Amino acid sequence: MSQLLKYDYKYMTAAKVAGFGFKQAELAGLGKKLRQINAKLAKNANSPDLSFRKLPYDLAGADLIQKMVKSLRARFDTLVVVGIGGSDLGAKALVRALALNQQKVYFSGDTTDPEALKILLNKINPKKTLFYVVSRSGDTLETLASFIFWREQVIKKVGYKNHGRHFIITTNTQKGKLLAIAQKEGYALLSHYPGGGRFSVLSVNGLLPAAWLGLDLKQLLKGSQAMDKLAQSNNWQQNLPFIYAACHYLGYKKGKQKIAVLMPYAESLNSFSFWYRQLLAESLGKKYDLKGKLVNIGLTPIASSGPKDQHSQLQLYNEGANDKIFTFIRIEKFKTNYKLPLYKNSGLEFLAGKSLAQILNIEQQAVANSLVKNQRASGTLVVPEVNEFYLGQLFQFFELATVYLGELLGIDVFNQPGVEDSKKQMMRMLK
Ligand code: PA5
Repeated sequence: MSQLLKYDYKYMTAAKVAGFGFKQAELAGLGKKLRQINAKLAKNANSPDLSFRKLPYDLAGADLIQKMVKSLRARFDTLVVVGIGGSDLGAKALVRALALNQQKVYFSGDTTDPEALKILLNKINPKKTLFYVVSRSGDTLETLASFIFWREQVIKKVGYKNHGRHFIITTNTQKGKLLAIAQKEGYALLSHYPGGGRFSVLSVNGLLPAAWLGLDLKQLLKGSQAMDKLAQSNNWQQNLPFIYAACHYLGYKKGKQKIAVLMPYAESLNSFSFWYRQLLAESLGKKYDLKGKLVNIGLTPIASSGPKDQHSQLQLYNEGANDKIFTFIRIEKFKTNYKLPLYKNSGLEFLAGKSLAQILNIEQQAVANSLVKNQRASGTLVVPEVNEFYLGQLFQFFELATVYLGELLGIDVFNQPGVEDSKKQMMRMLK
């Protein structure tokens, strides 16, 4: 498999959306910066922040994870991932894209809503469940509260002496409450990869749950490798993540299009949109630029879903403020498809012989056409099919595009002081 995603951005150009599009020359102008940005990224390649770019090449690491999971699966039938934000959104996006209907991996930790925990408690058998607790800092309150809840449930069922084997912890190996707890209790401890949560999906954070479901980790990494190699190109016309970044940068600077809508036409990618939402929001929403100047900058991401949001958001998208830039994801081949039969005398004869996937993709094209008619800019990512290889490409595409956007905007995409502050306040209030 060597095909790449396509990014069709013709509906971003001035020729199509006069007021809010841009000329090829503007894009080419930004393209001149690409060599310099790539050189900077290459120079800092060994920094922890950029270590997400090394993950696609760690095939040996993926092998180890697969072996570890094989032996764990012999003892447990269910996995519960306990984490929040960057520590669970990637894993969620990954397993839900490729195993939408699975019943063996659950997520807990992104809320302390007691009703949600109770529902999950009723679904699983703690005696047969492994809890995979992920927190880079090891101090995130929601994750820790959930962990304590699950620890108690497991102890109730198997006793204190045996409870430890039900927990695997991934955290940094230097500091934090979770590290201290894991060391004290003797839980299995995996080290968090050096980078940040929202760029961690291809680390053990996402790979362990994926391996649990028997997904092909190598294809996932090979797909992300293909995208990573593409981004090493200094030719902007080939560098898809850069084109995406440049389009959004121009939209933001020129047209004040400050809202980025991601609208996949595939139910399997709904959780992917929430992963994307965090990636863009936390990476680009910043108070200061790299020079320390107050900028209060950022694109606001919206996780939308086609076609259902045609009947909920499209009125706003088409006729509301022209402050949005759209990205559709269109799937060329679905894992399954169904052709509608002829329904005589129904007024619906025109649907005979059309497949459900065809209808979905026609809807997507119709929405893009209608938006462009109203001078709304959109681009479409064309994905041959939702499998490990192309999903790997999608993850790496958006991570790289976010880094490029940050470089164009002149901000640090890797910090999140606005999140840290609320975490500290929460701790203070609870203590
Ligand atoms: O991307 C990030 O850095 C954040 O969203 C974190 O992942 C999130 O706040 C959870 O933090 P931690 O992994 O430290 O528990």
